[in-house]
Amino acid sequence: MNVLVIGAGGREHALAYKLSQSALVDELYAIPGNVGMEKVAHVESDIAESDHKAIVDFAQSHDIEWVVIGPEQPLTDGLTDLLIESGIKVFGPTRAAAQIESSKTFAKALMKKYDIPTADYRSVTNKQDALSYIQSCDYPVVVKKDGLAAGKGVIIAQNYDEAKEAVEQFYQNGDARVIFESYLEGEEFSLMTFVNGDYAVPFDCIAQDHKRAYDNDEGPNTGGMGAYCPVPHISSDVIQQTNDLIAQPIVKAMDKEEVPFFGVLYIGAILTKEGPKVIEFNARFGDPEAQVLLTRMESDLMQHIVDLYDKREIHFEWKSDAVVGVMLASKGYPGAYDKGATLKDFPVDDGQYFISGVKRDGEQLVTSGGRVVLAVGQGSTIQDAKTNAYDKVAQIENEALFYRNDISDKALNS
Ligand code: AMP
Ligand code: GLY
Repeated sequence: MNVLVIGAGGREHALAYKLSQSALVDELYAIPGNVGMEKVAHVESDIAESDHKAIVDFAQSHDIEWVVIGPEQPLTDGLTDLLIESGIKVFGPTRAAAQIESSKTFAKALMKKYDIPTADYRSVTNKQDALSYIQSCDYPVVVKKDGLAAGKGVIIAQNYDEAKEAVEQFYQNGDARVIFESYLEGEEFSLMTFVNGDYAVPFDCIAQDHKRAYDNDEGPNTGGMGAYCPVPHISSDVIQQTNDLIAQPIVKAMDKEEVPFFGVLYIGAILTKEGPKVIEFNARFGDPEAQVLLTRMESDLMQHIVDLYDKREIHFEWKSDAVVGVMLASKGYPGAYDKGATLKDFPVDDGQYFISGVKRDGEQLVTSGGRVVLAVGQGSTIQDAKTNAYDKVAQIENEALFYRNDISDKALNS
């Protein structure tokens, strides 16, 4: 079969790399793709990710059986719906089901209705209500702007002044929907779950992201500065509880509400004293969780997608090795940063580095985004995988880039 991957980041690079190894895949294409995918896929960089009509035309003229959509924006914009109407199968939810990520109000209301554990919340739609809420709420309070924010729409306010600053920031362009949540304490983890309507199969390997920009979880939230798997201090009992209390109920709720989900549901959870609670859902793989999980996955991803479609039994198989991925980002990210810094030549296509923001400029590789490249290490222990990952970081580090030094330390110190 011919398969098309949509997206240009590290997650999509890992998806393309993994799908290219599938016995089921004949021709693999990527729109718009990136320089790391050139050896494993036909990269169609002239077509924009947002040009849905061109994507449908391309899929039809290239006999594409399956489209695998990586990022949240095309899902939220309804690319799945358009492809399905044209008779093409899509791994990725419809616009309606993608609301589980794109609308925190939708996700929160559904969790409340179906008793799925999550932080208590209050949703407001104007600044006045927001300002009056923060006068009487408990602190710390978590302030979230509703809608897609690339991991950067959340502020944890310790007191009234910080909450006021968050409200001012979120309302600076006029009315917005803002969610206030009670602050949850505990270890964060994410569980990817393959979903087809009421059928849900969680990965039996979880990954842990590092959302803050700097070591020791300091600095602002980012899209993710590194990840590793497996996570030994989150037990299989916790995965089981997350499946029973969150994964199964939410997919059945969506099915019942006639917004059935198809694709991978990312359950972002926190292990509180009362058990796992939902922090957020995403309608797609995490980035950089996908890069480490797909590196560790031994079994055939495309086969799993086909089995999911047919609601057949799915057994994910994993390498025994641990995997650690360290993100190199442009200095300044997640705030303003420069692009166009020259990178040393490095292997962009052998599965050791997954490209997020690198492009070719003549003969050279230059930075083209905030998150630039994930260096991926493997080893028989997490310590070995970490050492291996930082060796790879050392090969490409550069004064235009920064990275965290403590990726996977939560596992090593627990
Ligand atoms: P989100 O974009 O909703 O995943 O939030 C980004 C990050 O903010 C999470 O990974 C958490 O570290 C933190 N966060 C979000 N909601 C809460 C909450 N209710 N309690 C504690 N931390 C939270
Ligand atoms: N790494 C978190 C995310 O993809 O949203």
